[in-house]
Amino acid sequence: MSRIYNWKEKINNIELKECIQIIKQGGIVVFPTETVYGIGANALNEQAVKKIFKAKGRAQDNPLIVHVSNIDMLKRISKNINKIELKLIQEFMPGPFTLILEKQNIIPKIVSAGLNTIGIRMPSNKIAYELIDKANTPIAAPSANISGKPSGTQIEDIKEELAEKVNVIIDGGMCEIGLESTVVKVIDNIPTILRPGKITAEEIRAKIGDVAISKNILEKVGKNEKVESPGMKYRHYAPATKCILVCGENENEQIEKVNRLISKNTNVCVIGFKEHKNLIKCNKYITLGNINNLEEISKNIFTSLRKADKTNSEIILIEGVSNKGIGLAIMNRLTRACEYNIY
Ligand code: TXA
Ligand code: MG
Repeated sequence: MSRIYNWKEKINNIELKECIQIIKQGGIVVFPTETVYGIGANALNEQAVKKIFKAKGRAQDNPLIVHVSNIDMLKRISKNINKIELKLIQEFMPGPFTLILEKQNIIPKIVSAGLNTIGIRMPSNKIAYELIDKANTPIAAPSANISGKPSGTQIEDIKEELAEKVNVIIDGGMCEIGLESTVVKVIDNIPTILRPGKITAEEIRAKIGDVAISKNILEKVGKNEKVESPGMKYRHYAPATKCILVCGENENEQIEKVNRLISKNTNVCVIGFKEHKNLIKCNKYITLGNINNLEEISKNIFTSLRKADKTNSEIILIEGVSNKGIGLAIMNRLTRACEYNIY
């Protein structure tokens, strides 16, 4: 069994020292970040990183994000940072932002899945920061969940999936943002979003000028298609129950579509907006949040998917949002949770 440390109110310094020892000795610590929880190990220790892949059941060709606490640490593991990359670092780090950079040789191949680049992120969450900074080593950490499942954003879900498999789980409460970081790679001098998140295309455009969005964000990757980010290829965020994403031209049409599908199926669970609870005719209704509060919706997505999966339904119907701003990140996760089943 893993030890569980409750740091919701404040960091316990004795336990922090233990966590640092575990990291230094090649163990695994699950820790909160402002996006989702990470399952972390010393990024410079190949054997330790192997344990992460094993605990998650993660494909060996899907690289991990390396977490740092400051610019010096970032520069120790990356190289040839150009002007645009530097500007992105200055504007968006620390925060829910990952930048793909050329890697130094001290980062073992297993971390980058053999690529010559790595994703680097500097979390702003206090617990994550203290852990990385005091351990004084970059920490490789994918999202804390079994591969293919929704990312872990609260302690109960994480315990269920990972309690037997890691040394320590730090409880920092529910993650503030609830969606993984925006992943960006500068390609031909243009910041290109490989995975949308809280930092939106609009924000990057405002600070940097140009921005591109990878077409694989909402489209299924073709069988032999080459992708910029290996994570795009995999089944992701998906509950065991079949999910359908329902999108209407307007609110009324969307409600109508959901009701139509409910009448055609038995044993349905709906994940929908608070405002639609009385308009959608379903007794298993999980509220994502207020229709105009995309932040609230982001925060609740993964817990809602997990909740719905436990209702023993045949089908889960999920209400879609518009693709604007952080809506793109929400739709990216939902499209994939529904395995591209869109109605
Ligand atoms: O918010 C987050 O980013 C969380 C927290 C824990 O920091 N981490 C996270 O890690 O979501 P993970 O492993 O679940 O997702 C990492 C994504 C994958 O889609 C992976 O393919 C992509 O980043 N990635 C990592 N290294 C890459 C690289 N060198 N080139 C392209 N994509 C990369
Ligand atoms: Mg993940």
